[in-house]
Amino acid sequence: MCGIVGVLGHNEVAPILVEALKRLEYRGYDSAGIATVNRGRLDRRRAVGKLVNLSDLLVHEPLAGKAGIGHTRWATHGAATVINAHPHRSGPVAVVHNGIIENFRELRAELAEKGLACETETDTETVALLVRHHMDQGLSPRDAARETLKQLDGAFALLFLFDGEEDLMIAARKGSPLAIGHGQGEMFVGSDAIALAPMTDRITYLEEGDYAFVTRAGVEIFDAAGRRANRDVQKIQLDATRIEKAGYKHFMAKEIAEQPIVLADAIKHYCRGGKINLPEELDFATLDRLTLVACGTASYACMTAKYWFESLAGLNCEVDIASEFRYREPPLPQNSFAIFVSQSGETADTLAALRYARDKVAKIVSVVNVATSSIARESDIALPILAGVEVGVASTKAFTCQLAVLLLLALEAGRQRGRIDDAALAEHLKALASLPGLMNQTLTREPTIAATAAAIAEAQDVLFLGRGAMFPLALEGALKLKEISYIHAEGYASGELKHGPIALIDKAVPVIVLAPRDALFDKTVSNMQEVMARHGKVVLITDAKGADEASYGTWKTLTLPELPALLAPILYALPAQLLAYHAAVAKGTDVDQPRNLAKSVTVE
Ligand code: F6R
Repeated sequence: MCGIVGVLGHNEVAPILVEALKRLEYRGYDSAGIATVNRGRLDRRRAVGKLVNLSDLLVHEPLAGKAGIGHTRWATHGAATVINAHPHRSGPVAVVHNGIIENFRELRAELAEKGLACETETDTETVALLVRHHMDQGLSPRDAARETLKQLDGAFALLFLFDGEEDLMIAARKGSPLAIGHGQGEMFVGSDAIALAPMTDRITYLEEGDYAFVTRAGVEIFDAAGRRANRDVQKIQLDATRIEKAGYKHFMAKEIAEQPIVLADAIKHYCRGGKINLPEELDFATLDRLTLVACGTASYACMTAKYWFESLAGLNCEVDIASEFRYREPPLPQNSFAIFVSQSGETADTLAALRYARDKVAKIVSVVNVATSSIARESDIALPILAGVEVGVASTKAFTCQLAVLLLLALEAGRQRGRIDDAALAEHLKALASLPGLMNQTLTREPTIAATAAAIAEAQDVLFLGRGAMFPLALEGALKLKEISYIHAEGYASGELKHGPIALIDKAVPVIVLAPRDALFDKTVSNMQEVMARHGKVVLITDAKGADEASYGTWKTLTLPELPALLAPILYALPAQLLAYHAAVAKGTDVDQPRNLAKSVTVE
């Protein structure tokens, strides 16, 4: 989850590296560092905490050089201290690393026997020591890196820089992505193309097991077996304006507000002429089963989709979180599709789950935001959600776009399986097309939602309740609140309340009830009454009819536009996001970069 960047440039690289690291800070912000080679000598600067601390340090202790590497860290091995910060250096080599070297303990012991002791708590330092050891034995930087890579187990992306080598970086990918950027007599390396966006749009992605010797003249790539490999140079389209805050206080606020636009884009992309346009190979007609796999917020999108695939298409649907799925060895029927949902497309567990399913099912399908990601590239069919770059660590617009794409898949599956006729499909699509407008209306209620959030910010514990397809949204609402405001929150299926969680209810516990006036409304309201009878402070989120019928006795009622029940999980995501956002703002937490988290979870 750390961010890596490297530049062989014409100009001083320190400011360029810091700028690129800014674009990678979403991957981690426990510490940051850069190393350069200047007049043949390696040197480095590192600082704990956000990138701004490194920038400040560089003002007082500048670092010259036209070749350099940089890193922003999400700590795995060892606390966030300067000594554990990357780049790690040993003798003639500096290295930055994303991922985990799983056999670092064994390597450490072997190195210690050779008199090379580690000074840090990190797994990465062993890599630097190994390269140094091989160079001490007389190997060139290229051969030393090659030998070192053979000794490493785990999933990683690595980038090396060497003393005396102002025109060489060595990059390696095993499990974690790396992009090589091509400039005019300059070369770049980054964890993703976004980091390199202002410098170049010509990108080569390393494939699994590849390593590369990068010089200003170009790149030589080798596969895992050490054979020369040809990898395409792709022209990447990245809209830099979408990576700015555009006047909003936080990226999360901007991304919440963008939802009507990006959702409309996604709907337009998939629906044309009253039809849903999906690749022809997506044939659900006689399929036995669907398996949906993801992590975190994306897994709640999958849980919601299960309700849709079952009710609209009569299709058996299993949902799993990737970290469990990958090790459980679940049997997968051949006549089934496995669908992997991921904003980043780089989540380590989801990618491993995809690889597990490969060859076991008829099709590997992914629903991704980053179209060039590993998950997209390793799928038979990759369906973009078209949410645009999501920077805030808490996923918002990606979640609603994931839901929209999954709903379209479920509707198409229903059509192909003869459960939805053309007229019904047209009705559903018409309703879906009205959703961006309803989202806009919902966003106008932000001041009321913010006032409620300010009251919720006082609480220690919050419960979210929902029934049917609103249950996964209760889980999502709780996740959103805890991750950015640090308030303890749990989501429950309303019907589960009596089976334990009701013991938590007292007058200090706000209970957020997500209840559009649908077929299950009365049942949810009964559960809500049980909460109020125990002095729980209910925040009812419903529509005008629901508010008329059930707002009596609630602490607060938030009213949303009416809409077909099928679409409610998408619209009701907005107040859940806004409650979390404004509670976090009221508490003064770091909304876009909450503690301990990172945007892209590339370690398992
Ligand atoms: C929460 C959040 C995470 C991600 C999860 C999966 O707001 O963003 O729970 O949903 O880490 O990430 P992706 O979708 O990139 O696979």
